[in-house]
Amino acid sequence: MNINPKAIQASVEVLSNKKVGAYNHMVFAVGDMAVHARPGNFVAIAVGGPSSSMILRRAFAIYRASNRGAYGGTIELVVAAHGSGSKWLSERSVHEKVDMVAPLGTAFGIPTEPVNALLIGGGYGSAPLFGLAEILKSRGCRVDMILGASTAGKIYAPLEGKRSVNIMTLTTEDGSAGEKGRVTDVMEKIIERSQVELIYSCGPMPMLAAVNEVAERSQIIHQCAVEESMACGIGVCMTCVIPMRDESGVIKMQRSCIEGPVVDGARVVFGSDRRIPEGTWGAPQ
Ligand SMILES: Cc1cc2nc3c(=O)[nH]c(=O)nc-3n(C[C@H](O)[C@H](O)[C@H](O)COP(=O)(O)OP(=O)(O)OC[C@H]3O[C@@H](n4cnc5c(N)ncnc54)[C@H](O)[C@@H]3O)c2cc1C
Ligand code: FES
Repeated sequence: MNINPKAIQASVEVLSNKKVGAYNHMVFAVGDMAVHARPGNFVAIAVGGPSSSMILRRAFAIYRASNRGAYGGTIELVVAAHGSGSKWLSERSVHEKVDMVAPLGTAFGIPTEPVNALLIGGGYGSAPLFGLAEILKSRGCRVDMILGASTAGKIYAPLEGKRSVNIMTLTTEDGSAGEKGRVTDVMEKIIERSQVELIYSCGPMPMLAAVNEVAERSQIIHQCAVEESMACGIGVCMTCVIPMRDESGVIKMQRSCIEGPVVDGARVVFGSDRRIPEGTWGAPQ
């Protein structure tokens, strides 16, 4: 596979930047870039300005993309300011411009028939799930959502997003919102209650691994958006490789910016802890 053929590089204007809990919700005027953006795709943004030493682009999942409205195409992001690049981005003012490449990577697969879907997000990992929920609902699917985080302020669940799901369940590890615990603590109950047939997830790797375990036990197809560190986001550097099984079961190190971020959970070799698992194709024996 190669870079998403629809990807465009452009200097895009910040239309809005608002603090929402622990995150910044940012809207960019992107023109035609929005036309082919799908839930699961991500953007790669150059940070720090022209003379910055931060030479690597930063990856952010597309929260929502629209190609209508007063500003033409727009892309919305949910940014957690934690390191220097994301902090720089979160401090951009309205009318400033940033250099963006999008849409990148694979998108969530949409079933052709209405199904009962369960969407699970951890922290800012909920970002691509609301756009996905809207599409699934428009196709007649039942959509349940579980959002989890360590504490209430780290759950990103905008009011308008709640309307696009049938039942929203929140979990926090400190019990400050929703049920105390992790997303997997409530998963099986919801799978049974809503007769879930398809699971989508997005969040940190340990959460995806735990969700995948429950999905496999329940024999439910699980599509997850993996979040591995990405130094280029366009398939060149190989920093984002994760071990995945191909159709014949052979484990290969695959680029999560090209073959992912959305992948079939059953194919991912979780828990490899950035090591190459034994038996991986091409690895020394
Ligand atoms: C597909 C995807 C979607 C994401 N979606 C979101 C989102 O919606 N919202 C959000 O807030 N964050 C998101 N992230 C995380 C976001 O990309 C990081 O938080 C961001 O890169 C942090 O940059 P920083 O400068 O703030 O942090 P720092 O930790 O200071 O810098 C991170 C930089 O180091 C580089 N790096 C890290 N590990 C390695 C390595 N092993 N080898 C080489 N370079 C490395 C990275 O490429 C990045 O450029 C996403 C990440 C991915 C991969
Ligand atoms: S981030 Fe460079 S190859 Fe994927």
